[in-house]
Amino acid sequence: MAFDWKESYDFGHIRVDAARRRIFNLANEFSARKDMTIARNSLSHLAGYARDYFPVEESLIFACCGEKDYKTHALEHRVLIDHVNKLLLTGVQSKDVSPQEFITKSAAVLEMWIFNHFIKLDPKVRPQLFKVAQKYADDKNKAMS
Ligand SMILES: [Fe+2]
Repeated sequence: MAFDWKESYDFGHIRVDAARRRIFNLANEFSARKDMTIARNSLSHLAGYARDYFPVEESLIFACCGEKDYKTHALEHRVLIDHVNKLLLTGVQSKDVSPQEFITKSAAVLEMWIFNHFIKLDPKVRPQLFKVAQKYADDKNKAMS
């Protein structure tokens, strides 16, 4: 399944939006994999990228929305990473998992990431986050002028 990026998914922060688009692209690259080793490496790369990116998003959410939303969101991120880590362990340790089964299960988790998190949960903080991103951009522009 191909995941299409829409501008409405943007948070208005150039680096954050680039990272989010990169995750979409990595999910699309994974979906095209057929070989077990390549698929596992692709999923591992995606998980690593997300692990690096999520704290950035969480810090913005803390700044824009406060501790409650930050904790809820950070927990969701950890659950997502845990799901992928379990898949990766299955892909490494179990000889009973066929490449097709691994790829199908992993693709289902990625769909959950994309649809339940990126498309449904992230937009709930988007308006506040957008204001923080705009303030950041304005402050940066003032500093450069
Ligand atoms: Fe998020």
